[in-house]
Amino acid sequence: MKPAPKTFHVKSFGCQMNVYDGDRMAELMTADGLVPAVDAASADLVVLNTCHIRERATDKVYSDIGRLRKGGKDPMIAVAGCVAQAEGAEIVARAKVDIVVGPQAYHNLPGLVARAVAGETALDTDMPVLSKFGALPARRRATPSAFLTVQEGCDKFCTYCVVPYTRGAEVSRPFAAIVDEARALVDAGAREITLLGQNVNAWTDGDYGLHDLIRALDRVSGLARIRYTTSHPNDMTQGLIDAHRDVESLMPFLHLPVQSGNDRVLRAMNRSHSRDSYLRILDRVRAARPDIALSGDFIVGFPGETDAEFQDTVRLCDQVGYAQAYSFKYSPRPGTPAADMAAQIPADVMDDRLQRLQAALNRDQQAFNAGTVGRRCQVLIERRGKLPGQMLGKSPWLQSVHLLTAAAIGDLVEVDLVRADPNSLSGVERVMAAA
Ligand code: 5AD
Ligand code: SF4
Repeated sequence: MKPAPKTFHVKSFGCQMNVYDGDRMAELMTADGLVPAVDAASADLVVLNTCHIRERATDKVYSDIGRLRKGGKDPMIAVAGCVAQAEGAEIVARAKVDIVVGPQAYHNLPGLVARAVAGETALDTDMPVLSKFGALPARRRATPSAFLTVQEGCDKFCTYCVVPYTRGAEVSRPFAAIVDEARALVDAGAREITLLGQNVNAWTDGDYGLHDLIRALDRVSGLARIRYTTSHPNDMTQGLIDAHRDVESLMPFLHLPVQSGNDRVLRAMNRSHSRDSYLRILDRVRAARPDIALSGDFIVGFPGETDAEFQDTVRLCDQVGYAQAYSFKYSPRPGTPAADMAAQIPADVMDDRLQRLQAALNRDQQAFNAGTVGRRCQVLIERRGKLPGQMLGKSPWLQSVHLLTAAAIGDLVEVDLVRADPNSLSGVERVMAAA
């Protein structure tokens, strides 16, 4: 038995969808009368919103639980997110946490807290389709750039990936509910919305596809920018590509993971696209929106990957010229087909390949950033910088830009990009000439 918690803290790991879920859990706890604590160490209830995508992400959860237990306060601990879904009761046995709640069940948190207070083990990893969204309080707070989950889950079953097991099958939220939430976010101060989904471009409602949703959101007054992530190459419809040409508020940025540049590896990954079909999609996207910034995900050291096959991935990067990218060492995930494949790659080979790939991707990124110097664009101000009068924001191509300005957080400022540093750009605000 533990006393009913008065304060809470949510700590999210992993992807942007977890950030979104973490925000909604915080809103739910607040609506339930709890008060946000300044940090985990001082909270009565700590929610660890976990990620199961790679081994290290999972290990972090157990070390975090250990640290919280040693901190002296002995808070009530809830494990949420994808580790909760994947490991369920095992976490209760191994780490003696109070609550385990999966990503499709967190609307039940208040009830689970009550059960934990009563001394019961509170575990809920049910996957009811979409019921959580209807049970959550309406959006009241938003940052200038806000996330909005429109689709969850995955039916693609890439052989390395746990997502189909932790987030379930592909499910889309209804059109009207999304537009309502977008309006609420804008009323609460959002100027930019990033539509989220594990396969966001597979979003559908009746005859509508993601491009129809984007066109509808383009008409929401006060919403200046729309983004979406993460997409699968096979769901990159012509309608969506056309939206990049026609819809001004749709930002020129596309995150389109490819994972490998070699066809044999792509087949072993069950990616259902080839190197060539991927490159042809990018050609069509560039034809529609020539200045588009491209981003990707890569896995090095997939079981059986030879050095020559790996080099195909490096060559693909050089060919595409990514504006940014995420690259990972392959991590065997329990229950996935690739975990049982022969020829797992030794750690030192993976380290070496990751370094070589990241060197190539860094070169691409520097080149992309240097290529934008001299352009004029709008920057959405997101936070204060370190220097007096300095603000930080994002360019249309998702680059961090710092500038001196009197503008406020949430403003869109017209700037000239004047310098590219390794991790950000400098902008100079364009001052309108006096009439
Ligand atoms: N090992 C390494 N990286 C992985 N990803 C997904 N599963 C694994 C895994 N088992 C990467 C992919 C995916 C991104 C979200 O995480 O690149 O696109
Ligand atoms: Fe991690 Fe993937 Fe789950 Fe996001 S969806 S929390 S990246 S396992």
